Amino acid sequence: MRIAALVSFAFLLCAALLFGETKTAATPPMGWNSWNHFAEHVTDADVRSAADMLVSTGMRDAGYIYVNVDDTWQGKRDAQGVIHANEKFPDMKTLGDYIHSKGLKFGIYSSPGAKTCGGYEGSLGHEAQDAKTYAEWGVDFLKYDLCSYNDDLLKAQAEHPGDTNIKKNTMIAAYKKMGDALKATGRPIVYSLCQYGVDQPWKWGPEVGASMWRTTDDIDDSYGRMIAIGFSQAGLSKYGGPGHWNDPDMLEVGNGKMTADEYRTHMSLWVLLAAPLLAGNDLSKMTDEDKSILMNKEAIAIDQDPLGKQGDRLYESGDLDVWTRPLSGGCVAVGLFNRSWSVRDVSVDLAEIGFKSGGNVRDVWKQKDLGHKSGVFTDTLVKHGATLLIVSK
Ligand code: GAL
Repeated sequence: MRIAALVSFAFLLCAALLFGETKTAATPPMGWNSWNHFAEHVTDADVRSAADMLVSTGMRDAGYIYVNVDDTWQGKRDAQGVIHANEKFPDMKTLGDYIHSKGLKFGIYSSPGAKTCGGYEGSLGHEAQDAKTYAEWGVDFLKYDLCSYNDDLLKAQAEHPGDTNIKKNTMIAAYKKMGDALKATGRPIVYSLCQYGVDQPWKWGPEVGASMWRTTDDIDDSYGRMIAIGFSQAGLSKYGGPGHWNDPDMLEVGNGKMTADEYRTHMSLWVLLAAPLLAGNDLSKMTDEDKSILMNKEAIAIDQDPLGKQGDRLYESGDLDVWTRPLSGGCVAVGLFNRSWSVRDVSVDLAEIGFKSGGNVRDVWKQKDLGHKSGVFTDTLVKHGATLLIVSK
């Protein structure tokens, strides 16, 4: 049995204590991943120090639990076919033990193909063996990235020219193979599909045992790319839920190429989307502003709301956008967004989102109660700015 306690004052009104069986990824997984900052340079020392810093910065206690080693850890297979790490990672089991000793969880990366995107050893033909090895290392999270398996899909298509579904079905079978292998280990392992949203993984992800699936191609640390991904998630809300989440890719907050307002837009959108929150920054270089964005308790509580309902677009007008997300206890999270280059007013009609007699409005980024409001609520947003609200009865 598990008790999920509520973390924020704002949510005292919105939800009650939850009692229920522990489920893998019952709420969107939160943690840190090596790729966005370290990319192919990541080492065992970087990962240990990320684990240390998740603790010392308060990120772990804010909910960032998974420490995920992305591509480029893989070495060669031995004569029995068992995968070993390369010289950058002397001992994966010891690394996993270290991560666990800090109250964190250990994530790893592979591909259904022969090679990962970085050209390292993938799991093709070794799925059950690799799943067993990961379980022995204490792995709690696997990101499984299509990469060279795309060549196998092209081959399948060439062999079955008339079959329009052959690529999709072959890909689904490959993802199911690893999903089954992970299940067979008996260890709860978050299974994260990465195939860039091709062939609508939100429709078949749960069937292959996935806990989450990427809905898009890669994010980068730019406002343009981040909003292109974030706002293109409209319409996907019905596919996310406890144990199976849409994943618009990892966070770029703290990587330095967006303004604080743009990073607040990023975080606001991701929590409204019930997205997995995998920080991708160098934790040793977080500014106070980065920390205030990544560790805003009320924003995180929206993301982790126990109801697990993903938000969606309410309306869009030119560069202005309003998104809402239903929360437990009859509360609603609202995101007001200004994508334009000038200061703009953005409004939401509270009656339209279920508050006919008005509601209590809380500004999450300002951490301020704005009082009881009814009718049309308007805020003035700076360029590329976002206002994140929680409305309660
Ligand atoms: C990409 C993936 C990235 C990262 C990279 C590693 O395909 O989308 O998130 O994992 O591969 O090579």
